[in-house]
Amino acid sequence: MPTKNLNKKFFQYLYLISIFSSCYLIYLTAKFIKPDNYYSVNEITRKVWKRSSENEKNVENFLMGFKDFNISYQFFTDKRLECNEKQIVIIIPSRPNGFDNRMGIRSSWLQNLPPNVIYKFILGSTKNETLQELIKNEDEEFQDLIFSTLHESYSNLTLKTYSIFQWTQKYCPTAKYLLKTDDDTVVDVRRLQYWIEKHFDRYNYIFDEKVIFCKVWTNSTPFRDPEHKWYIPEYAFNETVFPNFCSGPTYLLTAKAIPAILKETPKHYFIQTEDAFFTGIVSEAAGIYRFQKDKHFGHEPEIGNLTIKCDLKGIPFLTSIYGISFNGTIFNEDNNNPFKGAMNELFSLSCNKSVNSVLN
Ligand SMILES: *[C@@H]1O[C@H](CO)[C@@H](O)[C@H](O)[C@H]1NC(C)=O
Ligand SMILES: *[C@@H]1O[C@H](CO)[C@@H](O)[C@H](O)[C@H]1NC(C)=O
Ligand SMILES: *[C@@H]1O[C@H](CO)[C@@H](O)[C@H](O)[C@H]1NC(C)=O
Ligand SMILES: *[C@@H]1O[C@H](CO)[C@@H](O)[C@H](O)[C@H]1NC(C)=O
Ligand SMILES: *[C@@H]1O[C@H](CO)[C@@H](O)[C@H](O)[C@H]1NC(C)=O
Ligand SMILES: *[C@@H]1O[C@H](CO)[C@@H](O)[C@H](O)[C@H]1NC(C)=O
Ligand SMILES: *[C@@H]1O[C@H](CO)[C@@H](O)[C@H](O)[C@H]1NC(C)=O
Repeated sequence: MPTKNLNKKFFQYLYLISIFSSCYLIYLTAKFIKPDNYYSVNEITRKVWKRSSENEKNVENFLMGFKDFNISYQFFTDKRLECNEKQIVIIIPSRPNGFDNRMGIRSSWLQNLPPNVIYKFILGSTKNETLQELIKNEDEEFQDLIFSTLHESYSNLTLKTYSIFQWTQKYCPTAKYLLKTDDDTVVDVRRLQYWIEKHFDRYNYIFDEKVIFCKVWTNSTPFRDPEHKWYIPEYAFNETVFPNFCSGPTYLLTAKAIPAILKETPKHYFIQTEDAFFTGIVSEAAGIYRFQKDKHFGHEPEIGNLTIKCDLKGIPFLTSIYGISFNGTIFNEDNNNPFKGAMNELFSLSCNKSVNSVLN
């Protein structure tokens, strides 16, 4: 009897030892395939952000879906985010290495925002660990970055815009408007608020509160050359003309447009041109109206030659310009900041009342 028990014990030990050693072998294999100095984008992101930081972040998992694929990713968002009672949340997509543009904007039109407006830059992730560290320091200083694990690249802009909608829906669902504006734009936020109150709030109501206010492109055709930067494959969109869509640099969405877009998007194939996709194909299918009245959005910077129109109070329609660039120079407090120049131009527009003002 005791021998039998001993035998049983022996085999139990043998069994356990074999399990442990197989696990160790698997571990060694994994280690060999994936050496210690290998980090994926997500690992770098987590590594850098998880270290104790003054500006603590919420980490939240998200899933975005297209007809052809799904992507899961994470957001790192400031724990002290205060989004209640905001009229406008401004989200500015920016590249990790877009430091100069962010500084140019911070030190120009983002100064002295009204208290019911909040802004954030949204950045994708990069494999460059040095850059990731710089971004972290930048955020500790300015506390205005939100950060996703989606890999930053031009061909991923649709994913980035998708993430803007998901972030806003999750963290700022009560803001009345989302202003998506690129990091090469200047916006006169107070003038925009004037037009929101005078104008957009009214149309908003007429169109069931699902509207995007923007500069509308009509009769735009998809590029079918596979070599083209904006190539649209037939399987993804087979019509000859896009639905009307909003010019990408700056557009203003009502709060109700966002869940409508998010609900509709998984029914559509991914395409790279984010503006034609979200504000065209998806918005058309979701019953979101793209509204253009007067030239409120998006002119190139040379506004000197434009015929500026104003209402009878002399308030110009134009609220934003785009395409501002450092043109090879870098940001410097003492240098000419091109964003400041463009801002002065935009903010100081005025009309010859007798000629340019229209009944409105
Ligand atoms: C994406 O995920 C949803 C559920 O979360 C699933 O129903 C759908 O089939 C997935 N789509 C693809 C293309 O994998
Ligand atoms: C990483 O980013 C830093 C800071 O922007 C830059 O100086 C460096 O050249 C980058 N490294 C690579 C490999 O791109
Ligand atoms: C786009 O983002 C996804 C998710 O982060 C990533 O897997 C993919 O490599 C990116 N594409 C490019 C071209 O960077
Ligand atoms: C075009 O695409 C739609 C939606 O994917 C599909 O229902 C339709 O059959 C397609 N038409 C042609 C001619 O391929
Ligand atoms: C205004 O238009 C004229 C003639 O088209 C052009 O030469 C000039 O450069 C323009 N000025 C600006 C500021 O765009
Ligand atoms: C940008 O720089 C190029 C060359 O350095 C110059 O030719 C061009 O005029 C500049 N453009 C502006 C708007 O300053
Ligand atoms: C406004 O336009 C009218 C008509 O062209 C012109 O007579 C007047 O001098 C202009 N006023 C200013 C301040 O430019």
